[in-house]
Amino acid sequence: MNQSKQISVAMIGLAFGGLFAPIYAAHPNVERVILVDRDPERIETALYLTRNFRHKVEVYNSFEDVLRDRSIDAVHICTGIPGHWEMSVSVLDAGKHCACAVPMAISLEDIRRVVEAARRSGKNYMMMETEIYEAAFLYARGMLERGEFGRIQFMRGIHHQCMDFGDWNTQTRHYWRGMPPMWYISHALSPLRVAAGSRIREVVCFGSGTMDEEKVKNYGNPYPAEDMLVRFENGLAAEVSRMMHECSVKQTESYNIYGSKKSFMYEYRHEVWEQFYDETKYDRVGFHTDVIDYPNRYDLLPEEIQRFTIEGGADSENWKELLDTAPLSMHSGSHPHLVHEFVSSILENRKSAMDEDLSANITAAGICAHTSAMNGGRLETVPEF
Ligand SMILES: NC(=O)c1ccc[n+]([C@@H]2O[C@H](COP(=O)([O-])OP(=O)(O)OC[C@H]3O[C@@H](n4cnc5c(N)ncnc54)[C@H](O)[C@@H]3O)[C@@H](O)[C@H]2O)c1
Repeated sequence: MNQSKQISVAMIGLAFGGLFAPIYAAHPNVERVILVDRDPERIETALYLTRNFRHKVEVYNSFEDVLRDRSIDAVHICTGIPGHWEMSVSVLDAGKHCACAVPMAISLEDIRRVVEAARRSGKNYMMMETEIYEAAFLYARGMLERGEFGRIQFMRGIHHQCMDFGDWNTQTRHYWRGMPPMWYISHALSPLRVAAGSRIREVVCFGSGTMDEEKVKNYGNPYPAEDMLVRFENGLAAEVSRMMHECSVKQTESYNIYGSKKSFMYEYRHEVWEQFYDETKYDRVGFHTDVIDYPNRYDLLPEEIQRFTIEGGADSENWKELLDTAPLSMHSGSHPHLVHEFVSSILENRKSAMDEDLSANITAAGICAHTSAMNGGRLETVPEF
């Protein structure tokens, strides 16, 4: 990457998005960070978080002001879910690179609109899926690259998180109430889609349980939980499970990748299972379990943003000494990796690792899965865009 090149990035939506603002501000290839939120309190918090980079940070009044400013190269959208697609299209049509929080959209038509906008603009799109930059997946990715799985035989993903109360049940977050569980499936599905290295072709899904009638009215979705089977173009299959409403569950985001030689078992206390064959007799001659403490892969990042991989790293004076031992920051240290991938993809003039085609396939699979559930488990073909 050209070390001297710098870009200007606007951050729209500063609740969850506020956490990304200081990372952009610290990134050596970002010269200016523009903050936008309708809520002045969110702006105040983001200004506090970026206080060490005041010379780089500006506040704009509106999203429209950002679109009009030709000096802004890229926009990261972190507003509520229903507006994602429309804001993404506006950003791309304004000739700017676009990063957007998950999910890409909540209908197939709107996914198509974003994909078409990315193609006609020639600008980068990136869905900011945290799971594929968490320490666990960076470890699994290493196993994939080294061919340690042998042949991948099956995969399972889980995202269980009851989103009915507390922080989720606020006025601005109304869109969670009654949302079809499979419309927010990317945390469980993305690692499997990346590991498969193949398009999702078809899905079947069952819905399960019952929930409050008021919630059902919001999206016409009667199901608090949904479970889908996925078929990839290369023949692999996977099962992906989501509980979202009125379920007594601990938050779980995990996945298992079962190979012929090794299996990555995030769900089972971070184990890697390895079996040894006598290839001539096709017989198992040994089995070994490793418990993995997923390493912090700060080495993949510029030094200026490595501190954001650990809890409290932004404010710590001795963060360098803590990188290998301190607990990882929110979403297992993934945020600086996402920022770095988005910025690098722009400067290197290449697609992002979660580009419009990959994002569309993952998001559309979830939308098709809910359609399947509403039709008694009918097989749904996931469209190409
Ligand atoms: N692990 C993950 O990847 C992860 C985790 C949490 C949230 N998210 C996603 O991040 C997004 C944001 O989540 P959140 O919990 O912060 O949402 P939120 O609804 O609490 O906050 C959205 C913020 O955007 C602001 N906003 C909305 N529209 C605006 C506009 N037009 N102009 C200026 N400001 C505007 C609001 O004032 C608010 O501060 C959601 O889409 C969610 O799906 C992803």
